[in-house]
Amino acid sequence: MGDDSARGNALYYGDNLTILRQQIADAAVDLVYLDPPFNSAQDYHLIHKGQETPPTPAFADTWAWDTAAERAFADVVQGEGAAARILLALRDLIGTNGLLAYLTMMAPRLVELHRVLRPTGSLFLHCDTSASHYLKILLDGIFGAANFRNEIAWQRTQPKAHVSQRFSRAHDVILWYARSPAARLRRQYVPHAPTYVASFYTHVEPATGRRYRLDNLANPNHDRPNLTYEFPPGSGVVRVWRWTRERMAQAWAAGRVVVPARGQVVAYKRYLDEMPGTPVTDLWTDIEHLHHAHQEHLGYPTQKPLALLTRIIAASTREGAIVLDPFCGSGTTLVAAQRLGRRWIGIDTAASAIQLTQARLLAASGPDIAPPFTVVGALPTMSADGDHRP
Ligand SMILES: C[S@@+](CC[C@H](N)C(=O)[O-])C[C@H]1O[C@@H](n2cnc3c(N)ncnc32)[C@H](O)[C@@H]1O
Repeated sequence: MGDDSARGNALYYGDNLTILRQQIADAAVDLVYLDPPFNSAQDYHLIHKGQETPPTPAFADTWAWDTAAERAFADVVQGEGAAARILLALRDLIGTNGLLAYLTMMAPRLVELHRVLRPTGSLFLHCDTSASHYLKILLDGIFGAANFRNEIAWQRTQPKAHVSQRFSRAHDVILWYARSPAARLRRQYVPHAPTYVASFYTHVEPATGRRYRLDNLANPNHDRPNLTYEFPPGSGVVRVWRWTRERMAQAWAAGRVVVPARGQVVAYKRYLDEMPGTPVTDLWTDIEHLHHAHQEHLGYPTQKPLALLTRIIAASTREGAIVLDPFCGSGTTLVAAQRLGRRWIGIDTAASAIQLTQARLLAASGPDIAPPFTVVGALPTMSADGDHRP
C-alpha cells in the first residue's frame, strides 16, 4: 500500500477499484465526493473548446449484463458483507440486466470508499433518479441506514430533456452518508431572499442606512422566576424575558434593545448586515448548471460547477482535510479542495480527464500557493487528432 493517501495531492490514472485497494489506506480520508457514471446509456466526449480538434472520447456510460459483469457479480457476492446480500436480493428483484451490471460496478467501490473514510468522514454520492433509489439501498447496507444524512436535490437550470409523457427531470440527487455519528456539518448560508428581507427587515436606521428587524424579547415560557423582572428599570413593565437582567442591561447600554414606540415593550434590534443569511437546506436551487457559455466550462462532459464542490467541501471538512474524488473527471473537486486549503486525491480512468485535471490544477495554483502534486500512472501519448495511443 502506498503512502500517498496520508499526504494527499495525488492524481491517479487508472481504475479506481484497483487504486483504492492498492494505494489508499484505511481511515485516511475525510471526504469522498463521487460523481460516477449515472447509468445514462450514453457515451461522453471531451469537446476542445475554441479549437478545431474533433471531440475526444472520454467515458462510456452504457451497461450490459455480459461475462465481465457476471465475473464482477461473482466477486462481490462471494463476500459476506451487506453489499453481497443486497446485490443477491437485487438480482432477484430486477434480474440480470444493464442496471444490475451498473450496480455491480458500484457496490465494491462503495465498500472501499467506506473503508478509507475516517470515523469523522463523509461520503457524497452524486447521481440522478436513474439509479439513486438502488444506490441508496446499497449505501444503507454499507454505511448503515442511521448514517444517512441527506438526499440533496440539486436543481438544474436546464432540464435534461423536454418530454411530453412526464414532467421534465430538472434535478440531480446527491446522497450524503456519514462514516459515523461523529461527522459534523459546518452550516452553509445563502443570502436571504429579497421577499424575506422586504417582509421582515422593515426598518432602516436613518443615521447609518442599516436595515434591521425588531425581535420579540418576551419569553414564551411564563414559569421562569429568574427571568421575571421590570424592564426598562422604572418603567413599571414586569414580564418574563428571554434574557437575564444582566444581558438585557448590556444590550440596552449598547443600543441594541430599544422601545419601538411609546408604550410598546422593548425589542431587540437585529441588523441584516450581521446575519449570515438563510441556512442552506437539502434543496439547492442557487448553483447554476454549467454549459458552454460559462468560462469555467472546459468542455469535459458532465463537468460540475466549482460552486457545488465548494459548498460540499466547506460543509463537511476543515482546513487541511483530505478530499478524495475517485471519478474526478476534469478535476473540479480537486481544484475546489485546493482553493479551500484542503488536500486531495483524484482518480480517473480516462487519460483526457487526467491531462485536463493536471493543466487545471497548475493553472488554479498561483506561484505562491502551488502545492507539489504527484501524477501516478503512465499516461498514453496523444496523437495530433486528439486520440490517445497506449
Ligand atoms: C461524470 S464524470 C465526472 C465529472 C467530474 N465530476 C467533473 O466535474 O469533471 C465520471 C468520470 O468517471 C470516470 N470513470 C469511469 N469509470 C471509472 C473507473 N472505474 N475508475 C476511475 N474513473 C472512472 C470517467 O472517465 C469520467 O471522467
